[in-house]
This record gives sequence, C-alpha cells and structure tokens, in this order.
Amino acid sequence: MRDLERESLPLNFRKLDIAARRAALEAAYGEKGLELGALGEAELGLVDGMVESALGCLSLPFGLATGFLIDGRAYDVPMATEEASVIAAATFGARLVAAAGGFSTWASEPVMRAQVFLEGALPGAELEIERREAELRAGLEPLLASLGRRGGGYRGLALCRNEETGLLRVDLRIDVRDAMGANILDAAAERAASELEAMSGGRRLMCILSNDASERRAGASCRIPVGRLARASFSGEEAARRMVLASRAAETDPSRAVTHNKGVMNGVSALALATGNDFRAIEAAAHFWACRDGRYRGISGFRLVDGGLEGWIELPLVFGSVGGAIGAQAATALALRLLRKPDGRGLSRIAAALGLAQNFAALFALVTEGIQAGHMKLHARKREAGA
Ligand code: MEV
Repeated sequence: MRDLERESLPLNFRKLDIAARRAALEAAYGEKGLELGALGEAELGLVDGMVESALGCLSLPFGLATGFLIDGRAYDVPMATEEASVIAAATFGARLVAAAGGFSTWASEPVMRAQVFLEGALPGAELEIERREAELRAGLEPLLASLGRRGGGYRGLALCRNEETGLLRVDLRIDVRDAMGANILDAAAERAASELEAMSGGRRLMCILSNDASERRAGASCRIPVGRLARASFSGEEAARRMVLASRAAETDPSRAVTHNKGVMNGVSALALATGNDFRAIEAAAHFWACRDGRYRGISGFRLVDGGLEGWIELPLVFGSVGGAIGAQAATALALRLLRKPDGRGLSRIAAALGLAQNFAALFALVTEGIQAGHMKLHARKREAGA
C-alpha cells in the first residue's frame, strides 16, 4: 500500500523516462519492492510513446486457434485472452466446420460516421446543410485526399434533430479503408464544424466519431451435416435441434442473448487484442448492433436446412490493418504476419468466422455435455502439465 504520509510521486512523473518512473514508484510505495520487472523490459521506448506515464507492458496469454478454413483458405488465428477455454473452443469449432467445407464470409465497405453536434441550429438548418453539401465535401477534400487515393473518402451525410435536447447532429459518412478510422473521423468532424455552424446558425457542442459502426459490417456462415454432431448420449439430429432452440433463446430473450453474444466476442475481442485493434470500439459497436431494433438479440444463430445445421453471424466489425496501435508491438505485428497480412476488411472477415466458430463451440457444449465438462478437461490437462 502506498504510504501517502511519507512519499508521493514527483509532479514531473509523466515526464521521466521509464527507468526513472519505476524508481520513483519504488520510492513512493516503500522498501519492500514492487517487482516492477513484472512489467517487462521489452519495447519500453515504444510503449512510452503510446501512453502517458507508461511503466511497461501487461502480458496476456497469446495463442493460436488452429484449423480454420475461410473462403477456401487455411488460417490459424492468433488470439490474446486470459480465459482458459476460449482458444480450445475456437479450434474445436474451426475444425468441425473445416471438415464440412469451412466458413464463407463477406464484408461491406468500411464506412464510418464522424459526428458534429450543433446547439441552437435554426429551423430549416437541415435543408440549408443539404443544399450546401458540395461545399462541405470540398472543405474536407484536402484532409481526405490520401484516403481518396486508396479508394475511400467522403460518402455523404445524414442529419438528425434530437427533440429532447434540441441538438442537430450532422453525420459525415466516410469510407476509412484499412484504418480503424478514429483519428481521421475526429479530424473530419472538427474540420467541418465551422462551415456547419455558418450553414445552420448553430454552435458546435462536440465533434467526434460514432461507435455506431452499423454500416461497416461483416458476416460469416457455415453448414454442418447433422450426422457429424452426435455427442455423448445425443444423436446428431437431437444435438442440432437443441442448438437451434438455444439460438432461438438468444433471439428472443435478451437476458440469454447477452451471454450468447459475450461468447461470440470471446473470439472477436481476442483477435482484436492480438492484432492491436481497439477492442472497446469493437465491443461497443457489436452490442449497439445487437439492440438496433430496440430489443437486444443474439448476433449469430443456427437453423436446420435440408439435414444440415446452418450457422450465421453478422455484426459491425471495426477492424483496421494499419494505423494506431495495430501491429505496432512485435506481438501484434507477428499476429498480422501469421494471418498473411490481411487488409482491414480481410481481418473483419476472419473475425466474423472466428466469432461464429466460438459461438458454435459454446452452444454445442452447452446443449450436449454441458460447459463444465469441457472446462474440467482443460483443468485436467493443466494439472498434467504441472500448472
Ligand atoms: C463463456 O465465456 C461464454 C459462454 O457463456 C457463451 C454462451 O453461453 O453462449 C459459454
């Protein structure tokens, strides 16, 4: 426990180098030593540039879910997670689906929204902004030029007046290509704000991207002959029927849907972490999508079609392949290399397949032998390994 009476951190703590910061911390927290070596010695210069007052790195188990077949290509998917069963479950799902032909995936164009919130916009401001959209677009051109050269850029606007607050929200729709997009979106909103003030007679309250990424979606599907699903005392037909019922439960009961979706995100977020993507943005967008019609639902599911169990998933996937922390650390760069350096949409497609594999494995375990049986096997394996 830090002894506040005796010592405190120096005021210039954030300006020190990491070695000096660690020493200052040791001094402030007492003689026993804090074992700050636990925060590693690698990439200290890099992390110092990434966050303020850096001390080192937290290490998280990094593993590989093996045996994916996605759109006819074999993949092993790097995942960073602290949860024991997640990689084992993804591998189980991936292998079963691969043996049945693999996952088919898709991804939309990566269109995101930058938002300007205007206070006191005049009546009719919407019409004026729409009429002068070309001016807005021209004003954004220098900022978006390099995106434009890569096939992205401005894609139009949307306007929304909030009756409760009186705020007029202007959404600038921008194709951000392979970036997650936060920086360019925030910059675009700020760049457009003065013109929007002039056009609307209002005053900016705030300019920021939206984590509603409902236009930037990806999905995956798979089909498994029910004969391959026999497990424990369950025939393949019975296991498949129970899977469909479990996925109906997630579609119709929000309190089950949130757990169902957490299972999907076990996979998606572990890939986000492994590649240095913003997993909070990805989680936020997924849960927003899950309740897009006012009722929270599962974002994946299963149904029976002609003797096969068909799985599907669709969700916003805000995966970038460049920029920010993506691939910045050696481990995240390695993760991208293991995936043969996909672009942002390629990574989103892999994430969709991974999310579906994870969901398949979870439901299959739940409706057959139960989730604890699988966990117990993992614990037994850990004991054998002397963990
Ligand atoms: C555990 O991390 C995830 C599950 O709860 C998902 C589910 O219930 O579908 C097993």
